[in-house]
Amino acid sequence: MELGLKGRAAVVTGGSKGIGRAIARGLAREGVDIVLLARGREQLEKTADEIRRESGVRVVVAPADIGSADSVKQAAATATRELPSIHVIVNNAGGPMRRMDRQITWSDAEWLDDVNLKLIGMLRVTQAFLPAVPKDGSGRIINISGTASQLVWAPALTHGLNNAAMNQVTSYLAHDLAGDQITVNAIIPGLVGTEGREAWAENMAKQQNVTKEEFLTSFCRRMGIPSGRWATMEEVADLVTFVASDRGRYINGAKLLLDGGLTINPRPA
Ligand SMILES: NC(=O)c1ccc[n+]([C@@H]2O[C@H](COP(=O)([O-])OP(=O)(O)OC[C@H]3O[C@@H](n4cnc5c(N)ncnc54)[C@H](OP(=O)(O)O)[C@@H]3O)[C@@H](O)[C@H]2O)c1
Repeated sequence: MELGLKGRAAVVTGGSKGIGRAIARGLAREGVDIVLLARGREQLEKTADEIRRESGVRVVVAPADIGSADSVKQAAATATRELPSIHVIVNNAGGPMRRMDRQITWSDAEWLDDVNLKLIGMLRVTQAFLPAVPKDGSGRIINISGTASQLVWAPALTHGLNNAAMNQVTSYLAHDLAGDQITVNAIIPGLVGTEGREAWAENMAKQQNVTKEEFLTSFCRRMGIPSGRWATMEEVADLVTFVASDRGRYINGAKLLLDGGLTINPRPA
């Protein structure tokens, strides 16, 4: 399928590892130049080299903390000197669970810190890169939220807050930017097999003396995932790539679930 992405450019936040790296690789395979934004320079450089070798596209490394407006503005200014047009903004960066205890017991500072990172962070990145997004129908903003916005993962209150708000911000920005022909969509992944999660499954399987596949099948059944497995990072990247492409130009303001049916939430007959 011709996606019409060759020669465009995308910024991927949290692009140094995990889902963000898979998204950056997926877009690069379609000929998209990449700005990789995250805090850790070493991992950014490693991923950038990998992508350049694999796809031959330009990859600009932009070390920045999305928790700081100044840091994001500086990264956008530096990156857009190298790639003046940024067609696609992928807001993917997010923090891990800081602790597994009840979040109603957390401090004010901890709540604010989590919201400042993923939610206000995506607004900062969008604002800073927006002047570089063309107004010719190729502009895309793609927000990676998560199913904590749809159901209750018991210890994930701030993830639920961030992701639900991110979905709603998607609607507001889709309305705001429609006049500039920029589409804004959210992708809502369920459980995704990131590097860390795959290693955890291997470890658990060893401890239980079963194969990794057996462990995962039983784990995903317990989690209530009708498809019987978690998503691969490449499956998230494929959906992002389609939404970013010319083929996805009529998708706007959508909240696209990619969760193997997790949120259909069936009840016994
Ligand atoms: N994994 C899942 O199952 C799943 C499911 C649904 C949704 N999601 C969402 O998908 C996104 C990616 O998740 P993931 O599991 O791939 O995460 P991950 O492997 O922990 O990677 C997070 C990325 O974000 C960067 N990052 C973290 N804090 C940052 C900050 N303050 N400023 C800039 N970059 C920052 C990290 O690099 P540095 O640490 O170097 O900054 C890294 O590149 C998150 O928003 C998450 O909520 C994940």
